[in-house]
Amino acid sequence: MQLLIFGAGGFGREVASWVARASWRDERFEVAGFIDDNAPAAVLNGHRVLTLEQAVDRYPGAGVVATVGDPHLRERLVEKALAAGLVATPPLVHPSVEYDHEYVTFEEGVVVCAGSILTVNIVVERHAQINLDCTVGHDAVIGAFATLSPGVHISGNVTVAAHAFIGTGAVTVNGHPGQPLVVGAGAVVGAGAVVTRDVAAGVTVTGVPARAR
Ligand SMILES: CC(C)(COP(=O)(O)OP(=O)(O)OC[C@H]1O[C@@H](n2cnc3c(N)ncnc32)[C@H](O)[C@@H]1OP(=O)(O)O)[C@@H](O)C(=O)NCCC(=O)NCCS
Repeated sequence: MQLLIFGAGGFGREVASWVARASWRDERFEVAGFIDDNAPAAVLNGHRVLTLEQAVDRYPGAGVVATVGDPHLRERLVEKALAAGLVATPPLVHPSVEYDHEYVTFEEGVVVCAGSILTVNIVVERHAQINLDCTVGHDAVIGAFATLSPGVHISGNVTVAAHAFIGTGAVTVNGHPGQPLVVGAGAVVGAGAVVTRDVAAGVTVTGVPARAR
């Protein structure tokens, strides 16, 4: 599949550097270019930078992945790209990622980066982003458009709701069977925080233990 990477920032260039080595079922990926209106050059890391209009014109029906960390901005980019006729990419999972192929579900548009480990009974919903070196334990949900920054550790029985953003190196303790610890929709967990109890939707928490700011 020809793949357009929406966002030529650092994360987009990182994904571009490995995605040709990834595969999903029998699908292989070839970077067609970046989509970005504000890139500093017309070619970045060997890939052309296009506007959305140019991209749709040249690669009608190509796959697209949005590579910005902000969950809400990512959703807006995906919506724009799909409305323009591109299709959501199958999951992009770095070849080094360790996960149970039967008991972990990745939905469309998901990106999982090098060094991450996901165990069993996990659902990673559409367009969620799991950055470098994260772990996700058993019985977890990573919600649609959620972001796990590098080095995040999600313990067992945890739900990270849609659009939640978890900063670098943050940790959640475990929930309990049938009673998950919940990081609410659109919540922000600061870098390095240790989340020991539920985080309400839309709230920002930081520190050890994590407290609302
Ligand atoms: C928590 C966070 C969202 C707050 O952002 P913000 O509201 O813009 O905060 P500011 O940078 O203005 O900092 C305000 C204060 O909070 C402190 N602070 C910022 N982030 C903090 C964190 N993660 N933990 C503890 N304190 C933090 C600052 O030192 C500052 O303290 P001061 O007023 O005593 O100087 C942000 O700092 C953060 O942790 N983001 C995650 C970034 C990340 O992991 N990105 C991944 C990129 S791949």
